[in-house]
Amino acid sequence: MSIIEVSHLTKDYGHGRGVFDVSIDVAKGECYGFLGPNGAGKTTTIRHLMGFSKPQKGTTSILGKKCWSNAAKLQRTIGYLPGEIALPPGITGTEFLKMMEQMRGIKNDAYCKMLLEKFELDPNIGTKQMSLGVKRKLAVVTAFMHDPDILILDEPTSGLDPIMQQIFIDYIISEKKRGKTIFLSSHIFHEVDETCDRIAIIKDGEIVSHFVADDLKKRSDKVYRVTFKDMGSYEKFTQLPYRFASRNPGKLRARVHVEDKNMNQLISDITKLQVSDFHEIPFTLEDYFMQFYKEDRIFEGVK
Ligand SMILES: Nc1ncnc2c1ncn2[C@@H]1O[C@H](COP(=O)(O)OP(=O)(O)OP(=O)(O)O)[C@@H](O)[C@H]1O
Ligand SMILES: [Mg+2]
Repeated sequence: MSIIEVSHLTKDYGHGRGVFDVSIDVAKGECYGFLGPNGAGKTTTIRHLMGFSKPQKGTTSILGKKCWSNAAKLQRTIGYLPGEIALPPGITGTEFLKMMEQMRGIKNDAYCKMLLEKFELDPNIGTKQMSLGVKRKLAVVTAFMHDPDILILDEPTSGLDPIMQQIFIDYIISEKKRGKTIFLSSHIFHEVDETCDRIAIIKDGEIVSHFVADDLKKRSDKVYRVTFKDMGSYEKFTQLPYRFASRNPGKLRARVHVEDKNMNQLISDITKLQVSDFHEIPFTLEDYFMQFYKEDRIFEGVK
């Protein structure tokens, strides 16, 4: 059974803005990544999952319950980390944590203490005096301090320094091992790469790709970079019927897509030419993602 389900969700804000016919399902114990550029529709989708917004069309449900009609209960139980943190002024972090604890009616002092230590947060200062990073850490502890089974995270590591980002990623991996179900939006490829089992890419409010993370790593189509010693060799090679990722006559270099099964052909072709360098370019989630932004050009996302 899906724990988190977005089914044909549409929210049209006009002028092509919003989300359109978005469907996602997250199974128990799964970490699902939601990637997309600024304004793609990540927060809009997440706000519908948290029951803050009512779908125009379609539904969002968690544990089989509609998010909009069960918003209050879901908001108390889910571990939600918003993209933008708004803390009430005039109180300390400790007071804020206490307030959230009372609002939820769930207390887990030991877990809260563990989180404060893990994220190196001293909450005994006023919310107004907090730096961006401290605010983010407070939001992280607030979201998780009741040890929720379901985590919904909107760009969770933005505002955290690289060491804290890694601590956060390790925490997510360990929570996944404890059976938590996690949905996270992000711009940060390595964060998604390290944590997510499945990934959807959203662009202009529509899902443009969804896939199993491991499938991308096990691709049989690879990119190779070949550099030649002379222009004659470069020209002969670039006239062959390969699918070129890029061609650079100035550097006598070409990048070419080759299926594993055609590897012998590539080697046989280049051994007839004067080659100075040849190697595989690892294909990453970032490369894959960038393709959707360079559809009109020859893809040169690989360096
Ligand atoms: N309440 C609203 N009224 C009108 N337009 C909105 C509203 N909320 C979001 N939008 C628009 O919908 C689109 C999607 O916004 P959304 O905040 O979901 O993007 P996002 O993927 O979270 O982007 P970011 O990475 O910048 O956080 C944007 O064009 C945004 O301007
Ligand atoms: Mg957002």
